[in-house]
Amino acid sequence: MSARQSLLSVRKLRKQFPVHLGFRRTGMVSAVDDVEFDVQAGDTLGIVGESGCGKSTTARLILGLVKPDAGEIAFDSEHLNALAGRERKAIKRGMQMVFQDPLGSVNPRMSIGENIGFPLRVHGYSAQQIRNRTSQLLEQVGLHPHHASYFPHQLSGGQLQRVNTARALALEPKLIICDEPVSALDKSIQAQVLNLLLDLQQQLGLTYVFISHDLNVVEYVSDYVAVMYLGQVVEQCSSDELYRNPLHPYTRVLLSSIPQVDPEARRTSAPVTGDIPSALNPPSGCRFRTRCPLAMDVCAVERPVIRHPTAGHAVACHLYDSDTAERSAA
Ligand SMILES: Nc1ncnc2c1ncn2[C@@H]1O[C@H](COP(=O)(O)OP(=O)(O)OP(=O)(O)O)[C@@H](O)[C@H]1O
Ligand code: SF4
Ligand SMILES: [Mg+2]
Repeated sequence: MSARQSLLSVRKLRKQFPVHLGFRRTGMVSAVDDVEFDVQAGDTLGIVGESGCGKSTTARLILGLVKPDAGEIAFDSEHLNALAGRERKAIKRGMQMVFQDPLGSVNPRMSIGENIGFPLRVHGYSAQQIRNRTSQLLEQVGLHPHHASYFPHQLSGGQLQRVNTARALALEPKLIICDEPVSALDKSIQAQVLNLLLDLQQQLGLTYVFISHDLNVVEYVSDYVAVMYLGQVVEQCSSDELYRNPLHPYTRVLLSSIPQVDPEARRTSAPVTGDIPSALNPPSGCRFRTRCPLAMDVCAVERPVIRHPTAGHAVACHLYDSDTAERSAA
């Protein structure tokens, strides 16, 4: 990525969850393991990967909804781990989230105006200020001020996702983490909500972390993309570079599985076989090795470290270790 200052910087982020296995046995789910990335102001970082790869846990760790086991998160030049109480609340005001489920994300007993105004009320705004700001926000997200008196069940999924976006914007954040914001919507509505997010980014200079399992959606909105597999980032680069020149076998498999109008397009890899292994007991070495068509002996014993085969393109795969670089390029 460029030398511009990062708005969000994540280093060696790690989270395990204890789970009960029955008969008094417990285990640890490795949800996020040494995740690292930077997001520059005004950019969108897409995070993509199959279900259970740790996308939402990463988001929740950044927002402080879950405590990390290890790692550093810096936002707006502040190290979040070092902040507590009021200081942390003040800095967290600058980062908000839009969730996947439009209806589940609002309080059904509160009007749309009350839902959007809720964060303003928590931060001590007056009733008049809340009314004015709510009307402004409704217009900003393409709804009408009169929608403030509606209740959630009276709006469509697309309209509710606009409401959730308005609520996320209420405190004028710098960063919005969008966790699968359109995957619960009809295809025809998805584009409208994506375009709204892009317009708002232009108008307000917003920075996004955009989480999705849908590579087409991620390509549409992202400047940079991080590909996650079983809790780890396996590849990271600009969106153009990733879709033009995917390096990691997992990314190639993901891209080749996107439905294409041109059947020859993006056929860069054999289809992946086998189920995703359990995060309770991830494979040794490279976590993708049990499904990788190119796995070698070393893949079972050594965890691949991040390499940069070309400037700005990071990949964690033994095919790109320096001593095997020629083979990987062949
Ligand atoms: N509170 C929890 N307790 C136990 N395990 C959890 C908890 N939260 C997440 N996990 C596990 O951590 C792993 C990562 O989950 P996460 O929800 O972050 O994945 P995801 O990439 O967001 O998946 P999806 O695409 O389905 O939303 C999964 O194995 C999940 O079962
Ligand atoms: S490290 Fe080995 S198993 Fe993992 S993706 Fe690369 S080649 Fe495949
Ligand atoms: Mg999720």
